[in-house]
Amino acid sequence: MKKIAILISGQGSTLQAIIEACQTGFIPGKIVTVISNKIDSFGLERAKSADIPNRVFLRQDFTSNLDMDKAIGDYLEDLSVDLIVLAGYMKILTKPFTQRFTGKILNIHPALLPSFPGLHGHQQAIDAGVKVTGCTVHFVDAGMDTGPIIMQNTVPVYPDDTEDTLSERLLPVEHATYREALRLFCEDALRIEGRIVHYI
Ligand code: GRF
Repeated sequence: MKKIAILISGQGSTLQAIIEACQTGFIPGKIVTVISNKIDSFGLERAKSADIPNRVFLRQDFTSNLDMDKAIGDYLEDLSVDLIVLAGYMKILTKPFTQRFTGKILNIHPALLPSFPGLHGHQQAIDAGVKVTGCTVHFVDAGMDTGPIIMQNTVPVYPDDTEDTLSERLLPVEHATYREALRLFCEDALRIEGRIVHYI
């Protein structure tokens, strides 16, 4: 049973989807902690409701991003986590942190990487006039949204779409995609070869 840490910043709908998938056994893993960098993340309430240990790490309590990430890393190492899941964690991880946990950090991005990286992926897709967008689950490396891609799924984009209508259409697909990708990771069914992630 893999030990999972989940990092959040906001609503936590993705966290909730993963909590439920672990509770049903679809994901053969145990969430051992939820970490937020925001004191008011609703996701913390979701963790408490599910009796999952949770902690807040506030940037203002540290002298640098490096110190903050080291403290988070030390905490996660003490828990011997097998997997670190970014679920709407709106903070770039420092390079030492991503190197410390290489191959163990996953993220979901609301666009078809390498298209539309960074913030406002939905709006970038709308502005580009694409007819299809989607989400990407990937390993996290030292770059932003640049690690090996694990899984992608798509949704249509309509001419009258706004960031809200598109994110509403995409969010359930994100949750389903993350559930599948995390299941594969917890079953040791992923193998990275260079840029390519194989399902074994
Ligand atoms: C999702 O759209 C995800 O792709 C992005 O942030 C959102 C997470 O929302 N990284 P929530 O906090 O899980 O509801």
